[in-house]
Amino acid sequence: MTGMNSFDNKSFLARIRGGDFAHPGEEDAIDLVLSHVSPAPSETVLDAGSGLGATADAIGRKTGASVVGVDLDAQSVGYANSRYPERQFIPGDVTKLGELGLPTVDVIYAFNSLYACEDLEACFAAFRKVANQRARIAVFDYIAYDASALAEADCLPPTVHSMAEMRQAPERQGWTCTGIVNLDQDYIAWYGRFLARMDENREVLGAARSPAFFDEVRKKYADMRQCLEWGVLGGALHTYAFGT
Ligand SMILES: C[S@@+](CC[C@H](N)C(=O)[O-])C[C@H]1O[C@@H](n2cnc3c(N)ncnc32)[C@H](O)[C@@H]1O
Repeated sequence: MTGMNSFDNKSFLARIRGGDFAHPGEEDAIDLVLSHVSPAPSETVLDAGSGLGATADAIGRKTGASVVGVDLDAQSVGYANSRYPERQFIPGDVTKLGELGLPTVDVIYAFNSLYACEDLEACFAAFRKVANQRARIAVFDYIAYDASALAEADCLPPTVHSMAEMRQAPERQGWTCTGIVNLDQDYIAWYGRFLARMDENREVLGAARSPAFFDEVRKKYADMRQCLEWGVLGGALHTYAFGT
């Protein structure tokens, strides 16, 4: 199993999460993020790394804003466009947003997508290309507190960013960090909930793919929770605005 970002693996996670989400905390996390950064109904939003599309759809439903999602995985984009026709989903790389013909956006959300991106600075350079001067960004994501211990645990790609990177890479691209919400304890609780749901639905989930696949996924998520408990891994919401 190479990561969980393939369409089939995200679909498996969605079954566990009870919706087309691939981030911890599902709808609770979306409400939390919206309580910090929320668009007006007249505004346009980009969901960077939109996956199966439920996050973009929830943001649109809860705020009335127009939402466009971008994801590298064309199969997820195809699914999201058919499942959530009120939103628009475009296949593409978030580091190349300037090439996708997007509208100018007021708010950018990234829910557990930038951790997978090797070049964080390129993401924020690309955000600059599509954002207007009043734009706000909310990045909800993992944080690597101890990169070498995290690499040893081998439950996430080696690209998970540190707190310092989350501040410095955007700043080098003209964005100012306007707030940091520590979510370490929330992530621990959300992973506990996720593992409990897996255990409650072991039979049906095992039958959906295979018992061996179930065990492999469960181990990966148990390892992630362990890393969270050890303080090797964490979670945070970072918010940014243009300029100083
Ligand atoms: C863990 S999933 C999260 C999906 C969604 N944000 C959600 O919360 O359900 C990460 C997503 O980021 C996408 N992704 C990773 N790197 C990307 C990139 N450079 N450009 C666009 N999408 C990317 C993956 O294809 C995947 O769908």
